[in-house]
Amino acid sequence: MEPYEGKWETVKVELDADGIAWVIFNRPAKRNAMSPTLNREMANVLETLELDPAAKVLVLTGAGESFSAGMDLKEYFREVDGQPECYQEKIRRDASYWQWKLLRMYAKPTIAMVNGWCFGGAFSPLVACDLAIADEKAVFGLSEINWGIPPGNLVSKAVADTVGQRKALEYIMTGETFTGAQAAAMGLVNSAVPAGELRETTRTLALKLAGKNPVILRAAKHGFKRSRELTWEQNEDYLYAKLDQAMHRDPEDGRAQGMKQFLDEKSIKPGLQSYKR
Ligand code: COA
Repeated sequence: MEPYEGKWETVKVELDADGIAWVIFNRPAKRNAMSPTLNREMANVLETLELDPAAKVLVLTGAGESFSAGMDLKEYFREVDGQPECYQEKIRRDASYWQWKLLRMYAKPTIAMVNGWCFGGAFSPLVACDLAIADEKAVFGLSEINWGIPPGNLVSKAVADTVGQRKALEYIMTGETFTGAQAAAMGLVNSAVPAGELRETTRTLALKLAGKNPVILRAAKHGFKRSRELTWEQNEDYLYAKLDQAMHRDPEDGRAQGMKQFLDEKSIKPGLQSYKR
């Protein structure tokens, strides 16, 4: 039996033999809208997989025809209105916790596989994932303006981090939709492919990441993400500290391997291929 079968109500996790953890929002009848239950469960899913050595790469996607239709308007908004203020605070914190805090600096590489509808709040986990591949016909939208709120949580920040101001404001202010192909052209996702190729393209990318040295890969992605927020001086210190930390922690001593295979054995050219692990 699958180790995670039936463990969560709103999320399905399929861990395959190659170490790819397929994390699937599982409320297809509600277009995978993110409810307080889903938010709590996602935190548990991510924390569980982070500690599972069999899970090397995480792919986030949705069951049925949607990636996610964003925050659940009924369960996350309407039913929380009128609750004690501290309860509202907790509900928001649960969402933020996994949607960007945990996911953005996750210990393992992450890929969002956008298989369909992707609205509003779904942009936070989408951008928090390291990489993203979309069905070229997937439909994206910053729909908040269409139901009477400005984008909340980290949605605007996520868009500002990936998309230029003109396109970002166009979609934030009009609420119009755009396709996976357009999302790729504006840099919101890495690429867009026909629906029939989405899973295999994602799998190929996931396997490529699974083949890398995980300690160095983590330091590389964390270094990049933090560097967006630091000054040049802070960056220099931080990135060198990160580099030293990664080398110190790396059990396979990748740097020595890489240099030996290039300089002594002349078996690789690092500009063109990775060292052999
Ligand atoms: N919150 C709560 N429920 C949602 C939801 C959301 N974000 N998105 C979809 N649902 C529910 C619908 O209420 C409906 O529930 P019901 O069957 O109990 O009536 C069910 O999911 C199916 O939705 P429906 O609108 O019939 O599906 P569709 O395929 O015709 O349209 C969407 C899909 C995604 C275009 C449409 O559901 C939609 O616009 N959703 C809201 C998107 C949004 O603005 N999200 C931003 C939140 S920050």
